[in-house]
Amino acid sequence: MRLDSFAAYEAAYAESVNNPEKFWGDIAKTFHWKQPFTKVCEWDFTTPDVKWFSDGVLNITENILDRHLAENGNRTAILWEPNDPADERQSFTYRELHGEVCRVANGLKAQGIGKGDRVVLYMPMVPELLFAVLACARIGAIHSVVFAGFSAQALADRIQDAGAVAVLTADEVRRGAKRIPLKSVVDDALHQCDSVRTVWMFPSTGASVDWTAGRDVRWADAIKGMATHCPAEAMAAEDPLFILYTSGSTGKPKGVVHSHGGYMVYTTYSFVNVFQYDANAGDVFWCTADIGWITGHSYLSYGPLLAGATQVMFEGVPTYPDVDRFWAACAHHGVTHFYTAPTAIRALMAHGDEPVQRHDLSRLKVLGTVGEPINDEAWHWYHRVVGREQCPVVDTFWQTETGGIMLSGLGGLSPMKPGHAGLPLPGIQPVLLTADGEEITETGVEGHLCFKHPWPSIIRTTYGDHERCRQTYFAAHPGHYFTGDGAKRDADGMIRVIGRVDDVINVSGHRFGTAEIEEAINQANNVVESAVVGFPHEIKGQGICAFVVGTDAIDAAVAEEASESVVSAIGRVARPDRILVVPGLPKTRSGKIMRRILRKIAEGRSSELGDVSTLLNPEVVPQLVAAFEG
Ligand code: WT7
Repeated sequence: MRLDSFAAYEAAYAESVNNPEKFWGDIAKTFHWKQPFTKVCEWDFTTPDVKWFSDGVLNITENILDRHLAENGNRTAILWEPNDPADERQSFTYRELHGEVCRVANGLKAQGIGKGDRVVLYMPMVPELLFAVLACARIGAIHSVVFAGFSAQALADRIQDAGAVAVLTADEVRRGAKRIPLKSVVDDALHQCDSVRTVWMFPSTGASVDWTAGRDVRWADAIKGMATHCPAEAMAAEDPLFILYTSGSTGKPKGVVHSHGGYMVYTTYSFVNVFQYDANAGDVFWCTADIGWITGHSYLSYGPLLAGATQVMFEGVPTYPDVDRFWAACAHHGVTHFYTAPTAIRALMAHGDEPVQRHDLSRLKVLGTVGEPINDEAWHWYHRVVGREQCPVVDTFWQTETGGIMLSGLGGLSPMKPGHAGLPLPGIQPVLLTADGEEITETGVEGHLCFKHPWPSIIRTTYGDHERCRQTYFAAHPGHYFTGDGAKRDADGMIRVIGRVDDVINVSGHRFGTAEIEEAINQANNVVESAVVGFPHEIKGQGICAFVVGTDAIDAAVAEEASESVVSAIGRVARPDRILVVPGLPKTRSGKIMRRILRKIAEGRSSELGDVSTLLNPEVVPQLVAAFEG
């Protein structure tokens, strides 16, 4: 499965385009199927309707746990690095992981949870979260992990949309020196959610929590006496594996659905190839993402474990107890493959080279980045200081909806160019289209990044609303999956992803829709209306700037209420970086907000506004500029 030269990549790529069925069929056959598939791919991008290996029956966890037991049961699967380095580290072999997952699976079954039920996980990055993810998959329950930084309202929205029957949580989450309550957030959220019958509570910090008898169960009690064996539920390849909510340009976050078979095949294939990971060479992989995001699904919970990898799972943050935490942990665990986000690289780069050089990073072989475009300076620092100019940097472009990496170098096999995700993986057929759908063949011209053939881990639907899936991804460019990103191709065929062309802001690699933040702000007292735009931010990539029109309350109060309203509707992760209280928003004569003007102002480029005289209210423009500069 692992390609070992650039020529092998080129040959695989050609085969994957000329004969996708043969290409993916052969790869899929290397997995364990309870019942082999005879069909490889059926697809129609108009409905859309995509199926991979549809008559195959499998369980993804059998391919993670049972498959590795015989030969590699004693290999370490997880090296857990706690938030506080003074706390006890934990590690689990594949055999131990199998036992832990089965106990949780049996515990879930004992509470009547089974195939097709939705289970929300709202937890810190403790091993129990990973056990719970895999336990759901084991019994065919559909997990939906909600990042433990989202608010009660955001959690309730997701629980309701998914119709979850259970929520698994902890007392608190530790993030560096901070402790943030989780159980009480769940309690708040559940006032609005009738579907939830059971709440499991893992004591992560030992904080005291409120208790609802008959609903709440202590983790230890839930798994007490449970067997360390649990038969893996037989799943059709297209049965949903999980729902993960992500933001778009309109409305509430939507539940992206991935299915068992295709997701298994693609996360494994992309993992071993992009990272050139070799389990037999003693490689140690570390993806720093939280399981609450797709990266922590595909390249922590699934891909590496499917490949039998040894990996680090980290509970904490890059700057605690000191800014050398990543490098200290890399040295301690002998990490060979390190995968993080540009925002973390930029934040750590600001502390100079010395914290990196304090540690022996000589085992590192491959460095990866994900989540947003990486600027040249950060790329070079990562390559030079962290990688000692010895490690290829793979800039991996993908999305929650793509399930796995789409564009990237393959370890050291491929050419690399700072700021360019590069070439497509085998099986991935990118095209750049103009807004009118014309294919762009010239180099250096920006177009809409689309894919014209399905790959095994493509989004299947948006939960409960298939039409929304069609509208969002398949309607703009008929016959294509549209990413929402703009990109350019250079003379070597390398692709540079520039950023979103829709109303989505990418803050530290996390997506937020401007509409969803505006809706939150507009709920605040003393707010009349608002408009939200992104602006370049030195560390976060993009920051959130909100222009808020208040009632006659004092500006500081309006700003404070708007900010708190975002924190309560979405979570701390979406708190605006700047809130400008303004007397009005620039509008066209038909009443449309001119975001272009707001973006320029927020970027500090108000000298480039051009002619604004056709606005309904041109007089607000200097007031907006003054608010920005004030
Ligand atoms: C959006 C997807 C899937 C990983 C985490 C983010 C941006 C992602 C890159 C990259 C430039 C990137 C895109 C994409 N993005 N990776 N290597 N270079 N941009 O997942 O929350 O689904 O966001 O992140 O804009 O559409 P996500």
